Amino acid sequence: MTQNKEQRPVLVTAATGMTGSRVVAGLRASGHEVRAASRSSEWRFDWDDTDTWDRVLEGAGAVYLVQNDVNPRVPEFVKRVKALGVERIVLLSARGIDEPDYFEGVTEPPSHLRAEEAVKAGGTEWTILRPGWFAQNFDEGLLADGFRSGVLRLPTAEGAVTWIDAEDIADVAVAALTGEGHHGRTYELGGPRASTLAEAVGEISAALGREVRYEPVSVEEYVEGLTKEGWSEAGAREMVVALSAIRRGREARISPGVREALGRGPRDFSEYVARTFRRDGDDS
Ligand SMILES: NC(=O)c1ccc[n+]([C@@H]2O[C@H](COP(=O)([O-])OP(=O)(O)OC[C@H]3O[C@@H](n4cnc5c(N)ncnc54)[C@H](OP(=O)(O)O)[C@@H]3O)[C@@H](O)[C@H]2O)c1
Repeated sequence: MTQNKEQRPVLVTAATGMTGSRVVAGLRASGHEVRAASRSSEWRFDWDDTDTWDRVLEGAGAVYLVQNDVNPRVPEFVKRVKALGVERIVLLSARGIDEPDYFEGVTEPPSHLRAEEAVKAGGTEWTILRPGWFAQNFDEGLLADGFRSGVLRLPTAEGAVTWIDAEDIADVAVAALTGEGHHGRTYELGGPRASTLAEAVGEISAALGREVRYEPVSVEEYVEGLTKEGWSEAGAREMVVALSAIRRGREARISPGVREALGRGPRDFSEYVARTFRRDGDDS
């Protein structure tokens, strides 16, 4: 007898990442069987090696899908999802990707938009998550190296962000993967309050009891800094595009998705700070 999708394991891609690791934890805490997948995970899955795709999908009931921004292949993957009988996809996308003036200098549809279209047309149940900038970028993600160096240099001027806690993204993902009422929904996810880079860094500095500074720099200074650290020019320019939404004030908006999906508001940035940063020597 075939199991219904609620009894089948949930495949979580990018399982070691900022959101995937929390989705894995949330699913396990609520008693669901999970296939944690990535190149270095228990279930080996590599976007660049199609031979690894079917094994992680076979027998799964639902998939948390995080695309590889460097080599996006979601449209191909969605065909395998459908062919192997997986019934539900929850796709991690990004805020603003269908708005022409959200990011600066974008001339073709972003790969996240192509991924969304493929998922919507793919013949499974689907939910799309469109988060803004994650709070966890400061300690786990794109801003972590700069933050650790003591000076965060970014071309973001006085732009503010409603930082979304990856714990909230995971809570929404778990609800959409395992619950009802989320099919066909696109949830735009942000935190409850906008803070500038200077304010956010100041809040973390206060918790750490150590000064970390934000220093606004020009786009060219930023690109030069990254290329000196070994980044490719193309990679640095992609970061500039992503950060342009902050500089232009687009990331400051309040987004309704956490409440729409969960019936409660999103966690404040201060919760992330209190949970993540402690004064040196303070074990409490
Ligand atoms: N950071 C933000 O503020 C932000 C905001 C909006 C949207 N997003 C989107 O969020 C996505 C990233 O999600 P995340 O932050 O949860 O992940 P993440 O922390 O960036 O981690 C990347 C994950 O992908 C896996 N991975 C890397 N290359 C892979 C490959 N070739 N094949 C299979 N797995 C691979 C890594 O594990 P292994 O190394 O073990 O393979 C890791 O689990 C991106 O699409 C980004 O555009 C990010």
